[in-house]
Amino acid sequence: MTQLFVAGAGLMGAGIAQTAIVNGLDVTLREVDEALVNRGVDNIRKRLDSQVAKGRMDAAARDAALARLHPTTSLEAAGRADFVIEAITENVDLKRELFKRLDSICRPDTILASNTSSIPITRLAAATKRPDRVIGMHFFSPVPVMELLEIIRGRETSEATLAAALELGRKLHKKPITSLDYPGFIVNRMLVPFVNEAIWALMQGIGSREDIDAGARLGLRHPMGPLELGDFVGLDVHLYICDVLYEGLKDPKFAAPPLLRQMVEAGHLGRKSGRGFYRYAPDGTRVPD
Ligand code: CAA
Repeated sequence: MTQLFVAGAGLMGAGIAQTAIVNGLDVTLREVDEALVNRGVDNIRKRLDSQVAKGRMDAAARDAALARLHPTTSLEAAGRADFVIEAITENVDLKRELFKRLDSICRPDTILASNTSSIPITRLAAATKRPDRVIGMHFFSPVPVMELLEIIRGRETSEATLAAALELGRKLHKKPITSLDYPGFIVNRMLVPFVNEAIWALMQGIGSREDIDAGARLGLRHPMGPLELGDFVGLDVHLYICDVLYEGLKDPKFAAPPLLRQMVEAGHLGRKSGRGFYRYAPDGTRVPD
């Protein structure tokens, strides 16, 4: 059985781990301290309980899935993994440091994947002595729900590594697309100008936040409007991706709107901070201003 090691038990890491255990994989989920790893496990347990309550999963399947989840604070536990997926905070120095440590801990044949949404895979691979076995596996939030898996080939990624990532994607029941390692890959290259255009429209008073979002929901059949989606992803994360795209491509269409930067500077990061374009209760539900 594939031994998967997921580094990071936040929204994305816990979502990846949940998807993997439900699909029969054995998963070691690692965070830097007990409190963070326990929070990740609690979130997975709550979501599986809710699947049972909705009649989508039986209690025995939930228990079997949870028995395949092995929480840890030890990075050394990655020594047993066939496949590592890194899903820590979106910071290039932290990720490069982690890849360097994983490279020295993991077996030579272990594949190191990153869930980064914007950091070049080639830059992460260069922190290791196995750039041919480093690849991007970009999941979408909420991971258990979203079908897409964007697979990114770094400059040195081998065909065998790509094949293994596609195989893992199939085991997770995701639908993969593959991208070359250029800023924003495929999806964020499309998403960033779209969300930014909505923020410019709001900043210039062209429409209210509700009307801008309704425009995309009702006129384009998007499940969420672009401002709601920005709040959902996190405005700090969105700003980071804008800056990577703008720096990497030097095209003004990717430049962050001043309103976005101002909101992030004010700490209005979206759902996770309780305030973004809209207001949220601690459980993430929308509340009136
Ligand atoms: N984690 C796990 N599951 C979640 C969840 C979460 N945070 N939020 C909702 N869900 C699940 C619910 O449990 C429910 O599952 P079941 O059908 O099995 O019961 C399902 O999603 C639908 O949820 P709801 O009925 O509560 O709500 P909804 O119908 O309004 O859907 C949504 C919520 C799935 C989030 C939907 O609004 C949606 O698809 N939004 C767009 C999401 C999107 O575009 N994501 C990509 C963001 S970009 C990104 O991730 C990449 C990047 O690099 C920035």
